[in-house]
Amino acid sequence: MTKITAAITAVGKYVPEYALTNKELETMVDTNDEWITTRTGIKERRILKDENAGTSYMAIKAAEDLLKKSGVDASEIDMVIVATATPDMPVASTAAYTASSIGATNAFSYDLQAACSSFLYGMSTAASYIESGRYKKILLIGADKMSSIIDYTDRATCIIFGDGAGAALFEPNTENLGLQDEYLRSDGIGREFLKIDAGGSLLPPSEDTLKNGQHFVRQEGRTVFKFAVSNMSNVAEKMLERNNLTKDDIQWLVAHQANKRIIEATANRVGVEDSKVMMNIDKYGNTTSATLPLLLADYEKELKKGDNLIFAAFGGGFTWGAIYLKWAYNS
Ligand code: UT7
Repeated sequence: MTKITAAITAVGKYVPEYALTNKELETMVDTNDEWITTRTGIKERRILKDENAGTSYMAIKAAEDLLKKSGVDASEIDMVIVATATPDMPVASTAAYTASSIGATNAFSYDLQAACSSFLYGMSTAASYIESGRYKKILLIGADKMSSIIDYTDRATCIIFGDGAGAALFEPNTENLGLQDEYLRSDGIGREFLKIDAGGSLLPPSEDTLKNGQHFVRQEGRTVFKFAVSNMSNVAEKMLERNNLTKDDIQWLVAHQANKRIIEATANRVGVEDSKVMMNIDKYGNTTSATLPLLLADYEKELKKGDNLIFAAFGGGFTWGAIYLKWAYNS
C-alpha cells in the first residue's frame, strides 16, 4: 500500500498595516532603538489598531489569501484549526467563527493553544489526521493579536510582540513529501516565567486583577531566554541526528521568531549558515502562533519541491519542539 504523508500545499498571510517602530516605542517607555535592535533584532512590529477586530479578523484574512492564491474552494476543507494564544473570546472558538466566515461550510474546527509552539503542535495535529486517511484538506492558521494582552508601559514585553496571522493547507501526498518526523515536548515549570496571571479559572478577573495589570502577559525574559536557547537547539539537533541528516542536507531552518539571538544560537548548533535561516523578526517582532506560517509565506517563492526544512519553536508553558518537513511544491 502507498504510504500517505501530510504535505503543505499552500500558504497565506496577513499582517495589519500599522507598523509600531522602535522610534515610536522610545516615546512610550524607557527604551531605545539600539537596545531593541541588538538584544532582539526587532525594528518594528505590526499592530491591529481596530478595537472591534480580534484575532479572527487576521485569521480570516490569512485564510482568504491562501484560498485566493491556491484556487482551493473553501467548501472542500474538512477541518480548520486556529492555533492561538489570544482567541477572540475565552468561550466560542475562534476557529468556528473563522471557518464559517471563509465559507468552510463542510469543516469542523477548533482552537489549539500552546503559546508560541501552537503552530508547531498544530502541524503535528493536522499531519496526523491526514496520515490516518480520515481527512483530505486541513487548514491550519496561526494567528495572534498580541497587542490585546500587552502592557504598553512594560518595556520588558511591549518591545517584543506584534500582531499577525499565517495559514497553511495540509493535504495527503504519495511522493513521501511533507512531514517526516517530529519531537514535541512540554514542561509545566515554565508557567512561573511566562504567563498571564488573571482571567482564567485560577484567578478570575476582578477589579483588583485589572487594577494590578494581571490581565497582561508577563515574562522573566532572561530565564525564558536560557530555556529557549538550550531546548530549541537540542530538539533541532535531534531532528538531524534521528534522520541521518547533515547540515548540508538542510535547505531551511524555520525557527520561531522570538529573538534573533535565540534563532542564531539554534542555527549555530545545527551548523547551517545565515542564508538558510528564515528571518523576518525585524519586520514583525514575535507574533507568537503566527511566526512560522508568516515565514513560510514570506519565503514561499524561494522554496523548492524536495527542500528539507527544520522547524523549531519554544514558548510559554513551557512548550517546544522540532519538525522535519520536505517541501512539496514550486511556486
Ligand atoms: O516567544 C516566547 C518565548 N519568549 C522568548 O523566547 C523571549 C526570551 N527572552 C528574550 O528574548 C530576552 O530575555 C529579552 C529580549 C526579553 C531581554 O533581553 P536580555 O538580554 O535578556 O535583557 P535582560 O532582561 O537581561 O536585561 C538587561 C538590561 C537590564 O538592565 P540592567 O539590570 O543590566 O541595568 C534591563 O533592565 O536591559 C534592561 N532592559 C532594557 N533596556 C532598554 C530590559 N528591557 C529593556 C528595554 N530597553 N526594553
